Parts: sequence; structure tokens; C-alpha cells
Amino acid sequence: MAHDVIPPDVQHHAMPIVIVGHVDHGKSTLVGRLLHDTGSLPEEKVAQMRAISAKRGLEIEWSFLLDSLQVERDQGITLDTTQVWFHTARRRYVVIDAPGHKEFLRNMLSGAASADAAVLVVDAGVGLGEQTRRHAHILELIGLRQVAVAVNKMDLIGYDAAKFSALAEEIRAFLAGLRIEPAAIIPLSARHGDNVAAASARMDWYTGPTLVEAIDLFRARASLSDQPLRLPVQDLYRRDDRRIVVGRIESGALRVGDALRFAPLGTIARVARIETWNNVAPKLTAVAGESVALTLDDEIFVERGHIASTPDWSPTETNVIAARVIWLDAEGLTAGRRLTLRIATARHEVVVEAIERVFDTQDSSSQEGERVERNGVAVVRLRSRSRMAVDSFVDNPRTGRGVLLDGYRVVGGCVVERAVENQATLVAPAPSVALAERAGVAGHAGGVLWLTGLSGSGKSTLAMGLMRRLFESGRQVYVLDGDTLRQGLNRDLGFSPADRSENIRRTAEVARLFADAGFIVIAALISPAAADRQAARQIVGEGFHEIHVRADIDVCQARDPKQLYRRAVAGEITQFTGVSAPYEAPTRPDLVIDTTQSDVARSLDALEGFATATFTVRRDLSRLAS
Ligand code: ADX
Repeated sequence: MAHDVIPPDVQHHAMPIVIVGHVDHGKSTLVGRLLHDTGSLPEEKVAQMRAISAKRGLEIEWSFLLDSLQVERDQGITLDTTQVWFHTARRRYVVIDAPGHKEFLRNMLSGAASADAAVLVVDAGVGLGEQTRRHAHILELIGLRQVAVAVNKMDLIGYDAAKFSALAEEIRAFLAGLRIEPAAIIPLSARHGDNVAAASARMDWYTGPTLVEAIDLFRARASLSDQPLRLPVQDLYRRDDRRIVVGRIESGALRVGDALRFAPLGTIARVARIETWNNVAPKLTAVAGESVALTLDDEIFVERGHIASTPDWSPTETNVIAARVIWLDAEGLTAGRRLTLRIATARHEVVVEAIERVFDTQDSSSQEGERVERNGVAVVRLRSRSRMAVDSFVDNPRTGRGVLLDGYRVVGGCVVERAVENQATLVAPAPSVALAERAGVAGHAGGVLWLTGLSGSGKSTLAMGLMRRLFESGRQVYVLDGDTLRQGLNRDLGFSPADRSENIRRTAEVARLFADAGFIVIAALISPAAADRQAARQIVGEGFHEIHVRADIDVCQARDPKQLYRRAVAGEITQFTGVSAPYEAPTRPDLVIDTTQSDVARSLDALEGFATATFTVRRDLSRLAS
């Protein structure tokens, strides 16, 4: 059992290698043999193996070993794959064995396999079968280029040199098409131990390395902790009045005091504490592989799916990615298909915008195509309405690969090739009138007062009243009201969370333009999701001010100016905020107007005071500055 219960810190130092190939080509036997011949098995395990095998009238059957390890493990933690450890004179290894094709795919897609290198097992008598070729494709897909080929079962072809070199040629040519140059192609017999750990006397014609020598020459990937920080947010908790951000550091490291930037919204705060439990001494640093719970020094908006990084090295933020997809669904994949992309801890609703190239997994060529069949590999363009924070797989395998779902069903896996810059050709002209010039003329700066609150809380009433007052005192002011915009610009949108996000995004973009034109914009939208309001803040920038128009739900319901609550309760209107859809009140608004406590006039006084203080240009100061 010694190899089976290695503590996590030691596991970290083991080089992960994956063994791939057709199920019948002898992978398990090879792994058993590797463990035994490198002396990585405890005596009692070997004795146990002999006993089991003897009972069946066999010599030691090494493949039983994996089964027996598997049973032990199943009683403990459940793993998708078998993981066993062995060591050579050079270093420790952890073998990520994938029992069958399906498991291998799942393993690769779930991210359990971040192997540094692979051993591709090929049956000497059978040659490169369909499944072996497909596995080789996946190696290429996940960027694994360090490969040794084990041509197994040489005993069954009489250790024939000529047959071996013909097969080796074929393998070399096939892998070349996948841009994989094998470190070695080794003729071996896992059953008898030829060329596994010791050179075989039965194949003296072979002068290359044994399998163990070949893998000892593999280079370890740079330590994940030395790479840029990526901490996908898994969850948020509240403890007392502190909010705790929880997630697993996929790469890089962090320290108390470090500034973290959360993509895709770009909010920034510092790590105040790394939480520990049970009175353990406080931690000051954490590295890749660790799950952490952080308290930040600022109550910024963060949610599941966001990725924390250092501010200077963030993931790419984009709406469109080109991704290499392996398609698993019986129904072929064509453009227009709507799917869910799960990447790191985020979920995005995506549409397959185009299929760029389809690969032939049997001969490793690719061509243009319109349909990806089951088990096919293709490069496709995925568009999401929500901003995605991604890395290309080459840059960071942990945050650069994802799973495609149709509902709850996994229908494919993908790795990110690149963000598709649909803006690369756009060059905005420099404005010929500067913001300060407009402000100088108007006597006030432009900006946005974003009124959020329940239906019936008084947003529209206050927005209109405030516009009147500001207009009368000579300000340039305009109201963007949800109901008005939904009759025009946003008339294609409903009330699903995605449609509300889009409603708010468009409104924020319009508000930004008005603010640029020097206007004080009063936006009045329910905008129930904190994330959407944060996105609006991001779009508008500095001049954004969040104002919570607050009233209890029963007060709103009693007011019911549009008779919508009555209809929502009666079930005539679905997804109605406060009744059948959530409202997330702002946690740190710039201003709160409580319309249950102050009447319209007093509320307007407060708003007007805030607007004046916020937007008035102090002429004396502006002159000093220029
Ligand atoms: S938001 O949620 O996307 O910000 P917005 O403020 O634009 O909403 O629009 C809300 C208005 O739409 C309400 O004032 C109400 O008149 C109308 N409405 C119709 N159906 C709904 C609904 N299911 N939830 C909320 N508002 C609704």
C-alpha cells in the first residue's frame, strides 16, 4: 500500500504521465510491470499478486495489480481514473491510467490529467488501430508532445526486428502529422519484462533506450506555482460580516497584501487574510493546487466563475473564442447549435458561430467542413453574450480547457485556441471636443446616476422629477427609463436573466455615450442582478454612481401603480422581480433613497444635492489645474 497513500506534498513532486492506447494492447500489464520492475511495489503486494495469479493457474498476471489497487481506492476516494505511483533512480512518477476510451476522454476533459508526458501503447501484432490513432489525436489536442511509444507484445511476433521497424516507421509518420516526434519507439514485452526496466537479451538488435530510460529523459513542466496566478472563484460565503472568496489556485501563488483582479469585470481588491480553521496559525501565502478561502480588503463585486489574477497578467476577456472541440454527442455538431460552455468555474451560454476546420482523426489531416461527427475533432468558433475570461490552452491548460453541455449532458470537450478579436479592425477616431471643454461650457461634468430598485419603488417618478429640477437649474440632463427603452432599442428582450443582462448592457452603453456628450444621465432600471450593475459600472467608468431606490416589497406591492404585482401573483406575468425572480440589493450603493420614509420632494432634495455635489465643475479649481 505504500505507493498508494503518499501524502499530497510528495505527490506534487511526482511527474504525472498518462498511458494511452487501445484497451486490449496491454496497458494494465505494462503499468503492473513498471511498478514491479522498478521496485516500487511492497513485498506483500507482490506476494498477494502471486497468490491471486497462482489460483488462476497463471504466472503473475500484472494487470490484476491495477484491479486490486482500484478496489482499494474505490473504498476510499472515488477517482475517474487509476493513479499509481512508482519511482526510478531519477524521480517519482504518478501514472494516470485511463482504463478505457471513454474514461480517458472524461479524464482529459475534467482536467484530472495534466500529465507532463505520455506513453502510447501499440500492440506489435495489431498495429495502429482506430482507437490508438484517436488517443494520439487527443494527446495533440491537449498539447502533450512528450511521447514515448511502447510497441508491446513483441513476444507474440517472435521479437521480430523487421516487423518492428516497419511498424515503427508507420507510427513515426502518423505522429509526424500530429506534430508529435516520439522520444523513443521501444519494442517491448510487458508480460515478460523485456525492455521495460531492463534491456532485453531477446532483442539485442535494438539499441535504443528501455521504457524507463526513455521516460527518465522527459522534461518536467515548469511548476504550476511559477506560472501566472489563476484562481477561479468557486463560491462566496459570509462569515460574521466578512465575505469569503473560495476557490482552488490553479496556477501561480498569492500572498496576503497582494492585489487581485477579478476577470471579466476587472474589479480589484487586496488579499486581507487567507482564512484557516480550527485555530491553525494564519497563513500568509498559498500556491497552485491549494484550495483557499480569502477575505478581501474591499467589498468589491465578485461571483462564482470570476477568475482572480494579478492585475498585470489577467486572462483574456472576450465574447468569442476559437476552440478545438472533441465532439461526443450522437447528433453531429453544426453551426447554430446552442450549448453551455463550462470553463474553470464559469458557465457561458454559447452559440456555435462557425466550424472552422474538421480533423480526420484517422490520418491527422484537416479540412473545411460543416459538420463534426461523434468522436470528431474540429476547430469551432463559440460566441457568448456574457464576457468570458479565458486563457489559451497553450498558455494555461487549467483555465484553457472546458466542457460543452447540452442541458446537463456532456456533449464535448474543448481547449481554447485563441480569443477571436472581433474588434481588431476598429480604430476609434480621437474626439475633436474634449470632455473638459464640454464641462467648461455646461458648468458640470457628464456622468450617470444609475437608479436600481424594485418595480414600484419610485425609480421613474424620481428620475423624471430630478430631470425637471436639474433642467430648470440649467443642466444638460436626460432620463433612460427601462420601460421606455424596452419599447424601442430593447424591444427584442424579455425578462430572463440573460435578457436582463443584455438590457442593462445596452442601456449602460447608451448612458456612456450621453455622458460623453456631457449629459447627466439618470438611468432607471430594476437591474436586479449585482453582476449586471457591476458590468454597467465597468462600461461607464468613473462617472457611474449607483443609487438604490429602496422600498419594501409589500410597500411596492401595495402601491402597484401598473397593477403588475397583482398580475404576477395571479401567475399572469412570470419571472416578475420580487415575486418570482430575485432582486439583489446593492451592498455598497453610492446613495440610498428610502421612499417608504421620505416623500417625493425630500427624496428629490437628496438626489439633487448628490447630483450637484457630484457633477458641478469647481471653476476655480479647474482654472488652477489648466
Ligand atoms: S430590468 O430587470 O431588465 O432592469 P427594466 O427596468 O428594464 O427591468 O424593466 C422593468 C419593467 O418591465 C417594469 O417596470 C415592468 O413595467 C415591466 N415588466 C414586465 N414584466 C416584468 C417582469 N417579469 N419583471 C420585471 N418587470 C417586468
